[in-house]
Formats: sequence, structure tokens, C-alpha cells
Amino acid sequence: MLETFDGAVVVVTGGASGIGRGIALEAARRGAKVAIADLHAERMAATAAELEALGGEVLAVRCDVTSDADVDALRDAVIERFGHVDLLCNNAGVPVLGPVERVDMADWQWILDVNVLGIVRGVRAFVPAMLERGKGHVLNTASVAGIWAYSWDAAPYITSKFAAYGLSEAMARRLHPHGVGVSVLCPGLVTTNLGENVRVSGVPAEQAGDWVWFPPEMLDPVDAEDVGPMVADAVLGGRVAIFTHANDEVIYKEWRRDIDASLARAVGDNPAPPVIPPGA
Ligand SMILES: NC(=O)c1ccc[n+]([C@@H]2O[C@H](COP(=O)([O-])OP(=O)(O)OC[C@H]3O[C@@H](n4cnc5c(N)ncnc54)[C@H](O)[C@@H]3O)[C@@H](O)[C@H]2O)c1
Repeated sequence: MLETFDGAVVVVTGGASGIGRGIALEAARRGAKVAIADLHAERMAATAAELEALGGEVLAVRCDVTSDADVDALRDAVIERFGHVDLLCNNAGVPVLGPVERVDMADWQWILDVNVLGIVRGVRAFVPAMLERGKGHVLNTASVAGIWAYSWDAAPYITSKFAAYGLSEAMARRLHPHGVGVSVLCPGLVTTNLGENVRVSGVPAEQAGDWVWFPPEMLDPVDAEDVGPMVADAVLGGRVAIFTHANDEVIYKEWRRDIDASLARAVGDNPAPPVIPPGA
């Protein structure tokens, strides 16, 4: 479990932008040595410069979390530079939206490779040494979409995030007895660059704009930089499930308490998704 950020070694995938950048900056402000890993070279250089300006030690590594070799090389680079890892944040993620019966298989494979197997690769690379040391902490970024099927527009994203959430609970069962903490971040809407990577799949181009729908409960974005302090406090407090919006914890409990009633209400209250005729 993590007791302090001061002097700790923190690794953040997807650390160049958005929520990952927010976590990295807050860790550095609290005295951590920070490694960020990302695909976006320009943003990674800019974030690394911000981290350096905070006075701490910084490592920036180009890493595609869909590559076993890249994630292993990230681990090796961090160990060579800092010696060990105290907090691994498996945070890189991408969104795929679209009608579940039409989303391309290649897009299903892409989102599961990044959002689920990207976490698995991080765990395989970094957790053995944490178990050996009998300490360390892993934070996986899921989403409120990992605990609540909030819309009809995003089955691939929701599937990947439920997997990330379930994996995290299973990891907690496995690792907590050995002194390794596990947390799962379930953000609601956060202002980031996530939309740049969105794929609307299986929808004719002229209808892509109809295929994004958020329920009113979700339309209250928080700033990505405000997520960093929330995460840092929650990890130090030993929280497993971490929410950015207080109401999401309530939604989670309500949604799960009676899933049949919750789904019936959601289908009744929300607009029906468009139907796309075969061949369109
Ligand atoms: N923004 C939101 O509202 C929101 C809500 C819930 C969960 N999330 C999750 O938060 C995490 C961070 O997303 P964000 O909103 O900060 O978006 P973002 O796009 O600003 O940041 C994500 C970063 O991940 C990087 N990335 C994408 N694919 C990668 C890969 N294969 N290998 C390495 N890096 C890769 C991107 O280059 C980007 O810098 C994601 O897992 C996302 O699903 C976001």
C-alpha cells in the first residue's frame, strides 16, 4: 500500500494528457519521481517539461500499451532509472461507440487491446516485483462506464470498462493479502482530449453525430487537473473504488441493487437509439 508520495516512484500510462497528466502533476507536486508513458510525442514532451518545472525527477517513455515489448521496455527503463515502482497507474484508454450489432471486429479488438489488455500487460510487467517487495500499489482507470451501462451508444467502451473494473476487484482479492494495494478509478465526465481518439464504428458517416448520447446525470464535467488530488488522497486512504463525482457512487449502488428495475427505468426514460437498416 502507498503511504506517501514523497520520494515514491510513480508510473502513469497515458500520462501525457487529461486524467493521466493530472495524476502525474499531482504526484510530482507531492514529491514523487514520475515516469509518464504515452504515444503522443508532442503532449508527452510538454507534460514532461511541466513535471520538470515542479522540480522532481522525470522520465518520459514512448510506449504503446498494446505492445508486450513496449510495456516490458517501459518497466526496464523505470527500474534502470529509479530502481523500483511504488505506484503503477494503468490509465491509457480509448473510446469506441456504435451499435453493438454493427461495430467492426477490428474496433472491438482495438478497444479491448488498449483498455483491458493494456492493463493486463502493465500488471504482468510490474506486479511481480511488487509482490517480491511485499509493497506497491496499482491504480487502474476504468470509468463510471465500468459500473453503469449509462447509454446505448457505447457498448464497446462499457464492455472494456466493466472488464477493467472486474479485473481490478479480482486483483484486489489476489494482491491485498500480499501488501500490494489496488484501486480502480471510475471517473464520470472529465474534460480531456479523449474525444480525439474516438471511433464511431458501424455507423454510416452522415449518422455518426446521432450516435453519441449522455444521460443528463452525466453532463457535469470536472477538470482533469482536479482529478489528480482526488486520486492521490484516495490512494493514500486505501480506497479501492474511486469516484470523481459523488453522485456516481449513488448511481452505482442504485443501479446494482435491482438491475432489472434499473434497466427498465433506463429504457423507459431515455430516448430510443436510432435503428440503422441492414446494408446502410
Ligand atoms: N474523460 C472522461 O470523461 C473519462 C471518463 C471516464 C474514464 N476515462 C478514462 O480515463 C483514461 C484517460 O483518458 P482521458 O480522458 O484522460 O483521455 P486523453 O485522451 O486526454 O488521455 C489518454 C492518453 O492515453 C494515450 N493513449 C491512447 N492509446 C494509447 C496506447 N495504446 N498506448 C499508450 N498511450 C495511449 C493518449 O495518447 C492520451 O495521451 C482512459 O482510460 C479513459 O477511458 C475518461
